[in-house]
Amino acid sequence: MGSKQKFWYSSPEQQGSPEQQGSPEQQGSPEQQGRSWLFKYPQPNTGEHWAEKIAAEIAGLLRIPHAKVELAEFQGKRGSVTESFARGGRELIHGNQMLARVIHGYDPGRKFHQSSHTLANIWQVMGRVFAESEGARRAKLRISEYLVLDALIGNTDRHHENWGLLRRRLKDRWKGFVAPTFDHASSLGRELRDERRDGLMAENRVGDYAERGRGALYWSEDEQRGPSPLELVRRAFHEHPSFFRPALAKLEKLDNYTVAELVDRVPTEWMSPSARRFAMALMGSNLERLQELCR
Ligand SMILES: Nc1ncnc2c1ncn2[C@@H]1O[C@H](COP(=O)(O)OP(=O)(O)O)[C@@H](O)[C@H]1O
Ligand SMILES: [Mg+2]
Repeated sequence: MGSKQKFWYSSPEQQGSPEQQGSPEQQGSPEQQGRSWLFKYPQPNTGEHWAEKIAAEIAGLLRIPHAKVELAEFQGKRGSVTESFARGGRELIHGNQMLARVIHGYDPGRKFHQSSHTLANIWQVMGRVFAESEGARRAKLRISEYLVLDALIGNTDRHHENWGLLRRRLKDRWKGFVAPTFDHASSLGRELRDERRDGLMAENRVGDYAERGRGALYWSEDEQRGPSPLELVRRAFHEHPSFFRPALAKLEKLDNYTVAELVDRVPTEWMSPSARRFAMALMGSNLERLQELCR
């Protein structure tokens, strides 16, 4: 799953580093051992690893359920690790698997330009997979929170394999809920070079950068491109205020100072000063635009 280089490993303890584990080949199936973790290499010359970590911590601050993430090194290479939430008999069903079942003609294998990956279709899925309307309501609320998080951090990669449900078999039925949010590597300007970051900040164009980003969730099947994560939330807020107002209310706890403090916890060698300033400026600008919606 996914496009990047990565591997699963298992840790007998609550928290482990891949260095202590030996190579993945030397181990048995991760499911048979302790906790499973996924080591992800960032794409070269990007900050995908720190973006993944900062995003998870921001989600934590907002009390949005998220996969646990740590910065990690394997064989001298920096990356990030995320602890599997698919444990205790729970299995992850990805968005595309459910969309293919519910939406006529949905292609679950489509990697790019999947314009049927719309909020309206996701809402339909929720209406269908939950036996009770309360289950569907909660699931929609959770997804709304994930989309607000995406808008805050500028995550442009919420495609149909980057969200899902966790389900567990009970005696006579399945019990399921929206899986914690995961894969936030494509956020926070992680792909930019420092000169570009400095330029955007000097020209006061951080907001433009956010508005120009293209998300992997479409608004309508007729559109050629997905709106930016910010624009998606604007439209969704107008159409579904009962879900997006409470999701946006989660941002009340956040301010620029708290965000800066969090970004500054990334070790100096892992993130350049420009990357830090830009990540803070981006979240600051997005936060302001999102908070405007509720005024
Ligand atoms: N914390 C996690 N717990 C369980 N499964 C996960 C977790 N993180 C990722 N996965 C699974 O691994 C796949 C690839 O991980 P992801 O973070 O999306 O990597 P990529 O950046 O390559 O897309 C996901 O689509 C999902 O199926
Ligand atoms: Mg992914």
